[in-house]
Amino acid sequence: MSGASSHDQPGTFLPWDTDFFGFRVGRANATTLTRTSLDEVLQWCRAERIRCLYFAADREAPETLALAATGGFQFVDVRLDLSLSLGNRPALPAAGPSIRPAQPDDIPPLAALARHSHRDSRFFKDPGFPSSQAEELYAEWIRRDYRQHTVLTAGGGLPAAPSGYVTCQVSGGQRGRIGLIAVAPAQQGRGLGRALVNAALQWFHSAKCTEVRVATQASNVAAQRLYQAAGFRTAESSVWFHRWFPSSV
Ligand SMILES: CC(C)(COP(=O)(O)OP(=O)(O)OC[C@H]1O[C@@H](n2cnc3c(N)ncnc32)[C@H](O)[C@@H]1OP(=O)(O)O)[C@@H](O)C(=O)NCCC(=O)NCCS
Repeated sequence: MSGASSHDQPGTFLPWDTDFFGFRVGRANATTLTRTSLDEVLQWCRAERIRCLYFAADREAPETLALAATGGFQFVDVRLDLSLSLGNRPALPAAGPSIRPAQPDDIPPLAALARHSHRDSRFFKDPGFPSSQAEELYAEWIRRDYRQHTVLTAGGGLPAAPSGYVTCQVSGGQRGRIGLIAVAPAQQGRGLGRALVNAALQWFHSAKCTEVRVATQASNVAAQRLYQAAGFRTAESSVWFHRWFPSSV
């Protein structure tokens, strides 16, 4: 999902994604393209035997979008980054009593819920990624966030299946990030998503974060409205492409 950035190169090799998908994955370092930089990044991919290159383009660079199209890049997503300042909020809404940090027994059912919850993502939209692998990516994301960060869950405890989750991490000092959030389909539309966001905000507040960020897709209206209702505002947007190369390069 991330890799060490080498900005003297046009691209960065992504070891985690490569291990997970079983083919070499990289991302373009720049957010704009010129004819020259397009050639350079394609050459870098061939030298590195990259099969799939991620490219997050600046949406305000029309030449870049045109060059991406002629360079064989496939449009996969418009990503929105939303942000909320916690610094000057007098009080945060209560989360509700049923939301708690996940325990080891919660992780298999939460991973099962994650498999089917994130169909708006670029990994499901791009047929280059088998849907079984896209599903497993989100299951693994929950396991990783449980090991490395914090997963809050609603409901659950045997024999009931958990009805939702939100994952929280502190990145870069006082900045918090919501990684994933989902509510089981049968429980949606009853305020649980809002309660999970409130629980996450309480958690970030306790962790002394002054800002919280979250990313979602332009196509995910439910998620946007959920975050906007909690006070998040759009901070950035970018146009995402994937560039595939034949396996023999
Ligand atoms: C996004 C999601 C978590 C919302 O959970 P939920 O429990 O249904 O949400 P709530 O009932 O608490 O609704 C909270 C607000 O979200 C918005 N919202 C929720 N579902 C919506 C929908 N289908 N369409 C439009 N707005 C919606 C509304 O603004 C709502 O507030 P309102 O009812 O006062 O208008 C849920 O739809 C989901 O799990 N989706 C799949 C996973 C996903 O896309 N996650 C986000 C990206 S990681």
